Amino acid sequence: MAERLVSGKVKQEDESLDTSLRPRLLNDFVGQDRVKENLVIAIQAATMRDEPLDHVLLYGPPGLGKTTLGHIIAQEMNVNIRITSGPAIERAGDMAAVLTSLNKGDVLFIDEIHRLSRVVEEVLYPAMEDYFLSWMVGKGLGARSMNLRVNPFTLVGATTRYAMLSPPLRDRFGSIYRLDFYDHEAMAHIVHRSASILSVPIEDQGVKEIASRSRGTPRVANRLLKRTRDYAQVMADGHVTRQVCLEALNKLEVDSLGLDDVDHRLLRGIMEKFSGGPVGLETLAASISEEADTIMDIYEPYLLQLGFLERTPRGRTATPRAYAHLGIEYTPKGGAPQGKLL
Ligand SMILES: Nc1ncnc2c1ncn2[C@@H]1O[C@H](COP(=O)(O)OP(=O)(O)OP(=O)(O)O)[C@@H](O)[C@H]1O
Ligand SMILES: [Mg+2]
Repeated sequence: MAERLVSGKVKQEDESLDTSLRPRLLNDFVGQDRVKENLVIAIQAATMRDEPLDHVLLYGPPGLGKTTLGHIIAQEMNVNIRITSGPAIERAGDMAAVLTSLNKGDVLFIDEIHRLSRVVEEVLYPAMEDYFLSWMVGKGLGARSMNLRVNPFTLVGATTRYAMLSPPLRDRFGSIYRLDFYDHEAMAHIVHRSASILSVPIEDQGVKEIASRSRGTPRVANRLLKRTRDYAQVMADGHVTRQVCLEALNKLEVDSLGLDDVDHRLLRGIMEKFSGGPVGLETLAASISEEADTIMDIYEPYLLQLGFLERTPRGRTATPRAYAHLGIEYTPKGGAPQGKLL
């Protein structure tokens, strides 16, 4: 089976690569113009007032730059960043400890913020609103409430699952930004930028090829570039030409649109096992031995964006476009369209 290019396991493996390629300032951050424009204004205004930036929520599919933007916000505000994640903060006391350790103006970055438990969230509410902690210690008659001031801070929350965020938490963010898949031009720019940081000699045609197979996702582009560089070194003279790219990417089983083995199994699964759908996510996931969450977070967003998949109340359906891409004849459920009935 081809190496998973977009899954979480590979994501961890690539952290060191990410560090060198991660843009440090808003100016280096390619694309997402609407988000950048709004952030520039908000950061300037907060700096002029000498106040922390209002809390920011970033959401969108994996690998589009949420963590990167968290770091950039801290850098642009010239403050420190504390990084944690929803599942890492198990108890209310852990959240309180993190909040009280912040210095004035610090950025607190909470990844996978939708996974915070309710009790932990409740510690966060007054802290976000009034920089104030209030929680109960003990039980029954001995219970008492503890109050504590914390330094003004900026919470930057990141999530791939906006819908799973509790409304009270969502409402406490001053700005909410959705990151979209990058267009081809932005992707080419990112591949170019990464190639020059890594000193990879690459032809424009090679840049284009990697850009168009990267699922509109910078993390994927960086991985494909790195793999192509390896291939060029071992199998050619180190130069990444279009031909080298094609060979390397075909070996990785990444097709012309960036779909990998899992995408193919998923689409074929719907077409061949469920007559094109609709099929429920759990059933589909089980039928191709993948986790439902992985499909939902990692694979589905891009297939939806391509118009290959439709989400209906009764489940997932493969579209005629998906059939065309896979070269499978489109036979909608119920057979060919019938003539008019009298
Ligand atoms: N706009 C951009 N310009 C250039 N490179 C980018 C951009 N956005 C992201 N990257 C690159 O992609 C990598 C992945 O981005 P990042 O870790 O910020 O994604 P993420 O949205 O936090 O993903 P996840 O949901 O998986 O945590 C970064 O290390 C960086 O190298
Ligand atoms: Mg991240």
